Amino acid sequence: MGLSFFSKSKNTVVARCQEDYATTMRKRYAPYYHAMDAQTGTHIHLDGKDMIMLSSNDYLGLSFHPKVIEASCAAIHRWGTSTNGARPSNGSRSFHLELENKLAAFLGKEACHVHAAGYLSCMSAVASFAQKGDLIFADKNIHSCLLDGAKASLATVERFSHNRPDDFQEMVSTAASDAPKFLIAEGVYSMEGHIGRLPELIKISDNYKCFNIIDDAHGFGVFGKQGRGTVDHFGLTDKIDIICGSLSKSLASTGGFVAGSSDVIEYMRTNSKQTIFSAALSPGQAAAAQTSLEIMQTEPEHLKKLWDNTHQYKAILKNLGLDIWESESPAVPIVLGSRDKCYLFWKALLEKGVFTVMSIAPAVPAGKDLIRTAISAQHTPEQIEQIGHAMAYALKRI
Ligand SMILES: Cc1ncc(COP(=O)(O)O)c(C=O)c1O
Repeated sequence: MGLSFFSKSKNTVVARCQEDYATTMRKRYAPYYHAMDAQTGTHIHLDGKDMIMLSSNDYLGLSFHPKVIEASCAAIHRWGTSTNGARPSNGSRSFHLELENKLAAFLGKEACHVHAAGYLSCMSAVASFAQKGDLIFADKNIHSCLLDGAKASLATVERFSHNRPDDFQEMVSTAASDAPKFLIAEGVYSMEGHIGRLPELIKISDNYKCFNIIDDAHGFGVFGKQGRGTVDHFGLTDKIDIICGSLSKSLASTGGFVAGSSDVIEYMRTNSKQTIFSAALSPGQAAAAQTSLEIMQTEPEHLKKLWDNTHQYKAILKNLGLDIWESESPAVPIVLGSRDKCYLFWKALLEKGVFTVMSIAPAVPAGKDLIRTAISAQHTPEQIEQIGHAMAYALKRI
């Protein structure tokens, strides 16, 4: 009986799990799922050591803003911890409508719908509208939630080279079908730090009457007036059908949003499985996002600090000769090009008290294995100097 613990399961699926190579390697090298035992802003405590967080998406550093914490606690006291149901049934509350109206107004769109995860929002931003027989043109490097939305829609998906409007033009112009067409791209690509080439893409999209969907999870809060995002940065608000994104980055919460015209948002509310059959955003998270949104409009210092920090950080990396894949945003990859180098670099940073995350192929294109770092408005100049020293040390270890 005791020995059965070590034996291979007769169940094929359980055996698949037991023998999975990626899981075995993840457990052996343990680069992911580290659980911090304490955090205050960019200071974390992990494995008995104080460290600097350098891979969080808390771009504006609002997760520990006193007003955000206070609003979130107050919402829980007033509404309880959970909505305990989906929006069409028992989950809708007035605070959802308030947040949606404020987000829609900020983004310059008629309507908005919020979900309990950014993944759900961005997946439904595609799956709600595309159907079997439609044609989706998507940047090769879009986030998996958008791709899952495309797959769930049963539409045909064609992927153009990353940030290459000419490739999109080639594909869309040679598409034989007169089927409804879609363009899916991101405002900011979070692994690469690249800004999506929206002006060129949208011009082509317009010419071929594509329905366009822009995921601005990493551009919201970072680009545009008061952080309205990449679409605003390029002055394209009226040209975009759907802007979707996450509440878990600059908005210091969890959840996501889909914004567009009233017609398309109401259609989504009727037809999207992700929207209809999943519990509504919780009170504490909605309040955190709404208060962060207010802070973005009343305290411009956070956005300024984010960019000051980003410039200081990038100058240090440039001096060290590190390849940052021409990042144009506070999401800054350090491209090392091999899994082994990434592992050694990541470990050396950890040793020096800097927490980052590795991203290796196939999560990134082959040869682009990287360490993903992201700057926050909460980093101090001293922390960024310390990060620079750790980078110099790690560079010697590869
Ligand atoms: C581009 C993009 N879209 C959507 C998401 C999903 O957002 P969330 O993590 O809030 O579910 C992410 C998450 O990292 C993302 O990077």
